[in-house]
Amino acid sequence: MTQPAPLAETVAAIDAHGARVQGMFTDIARGYDRANRWMSLGIDVLWRRSAVAEVLPGSCADDGSRGGVAPGSVVVEGSHAAADGPLRARILDLCAGTLDSTLELHRRYPQADIVGGDFSAGMLAVGEAKLRGAARERLVAREMDAHALPEPDAAFDAVFCAFGARNLSDLETATREQLRVLRPGGRLTVLEFFRPRGLFSRAFHACYNRTVLPVVGWAATGNLGAYLYLPRSIGAFVTIEDYCALLDRVGLQVIGQQRLFGGVAGIVRAERPRGGA
Ligand SMILES: C[S@@+](CC[C@H](N)C(=O)[O-])C[C@H]1O[C@@H](n2cnc3c(N)ncnc32)[C@H](O)[C@@H]1O
Repeated sequence: MTQPAPLAETVAAIDAHGARVQGMFTDIARGYDRANRWMSLGIDVLWRRSAVAEVLPGSCADDGSRGGVAPGSVVVEGSHAAADGPLRARILDLCAGTLDSTLELHRRYPQADIVGGDFSAGMLAVGEAKLRGAARERLVAREMDAHALPEPDAAFDAVFCAFGARNLSDLETATREQLRVLRPGGRLTVLEFFRPRGLFSRAFHACYNRTVLPVVGWAATGNLGAYLYLPRSIGAFVTIEDYCALLDRVGLQVIGQQRLFGGVAGIVRAERPRGGA
């Protein structure tokens, strides 16, 4: 059977590393979801669900559990919005890939307007094909490079990023961009395979990622190189402690860390201070 031609990227990566990563993800896009499910036995779905649970700042967003406004609505205290009815929250899912996390965000916050941003046209095309019903109205997929977001300052109540940060060419520049597009009081949530430090997580990554993962990834996508890159990118990434220090340095206030599966993955939550830079 003839494979359809890969989609052309419309957003240029900032450097050679970015261009390689972009081409790699577009190449594996059609088998990416299958590879994730096979490799993690579905655990990635549970991790995404945990990460998505507290994406909107509790002080200004109602998750519906208190019987107030609809999930994903934002009540801006003291403004006309509180009298006229709640505004809809805006969430950016950065490095959104095939929109799995974007759809999970939509399930959690059905009233929110969500942008799924990624520089791989192929990944976004696979994701867009999964959108049905209300998700088509609330979710928009947009090609963008994480180092130069095509979004105005303070445009989002929350920025979410799952398994994307590790691939970036310049983590600090991209983090400053996330800070810029968050409104004061807005929240950043990052789910990532940080470089492991504990004995269990180091042993797990060393064994599993170098054996099972490349074989299963190759079987699901036909691209062995991409799944040899994954363990390398984890080894070259920062630890969760170093990442929190970076957030602090650029002006984001870390409000929580969660280690998943003995530290194999982690979730970091941070907020843009109110009244800060
Ligand atoms: C491992 S996938 C994660 C996809 C999705 N968030 C998930 O959880 O399945 C990493 C994604 O980050 C995207 N990405 C990497 N570097 C990027 C950059 N500089 N700008 C935008 N997207 C980028 C890739 O195209 C890819 O879709």
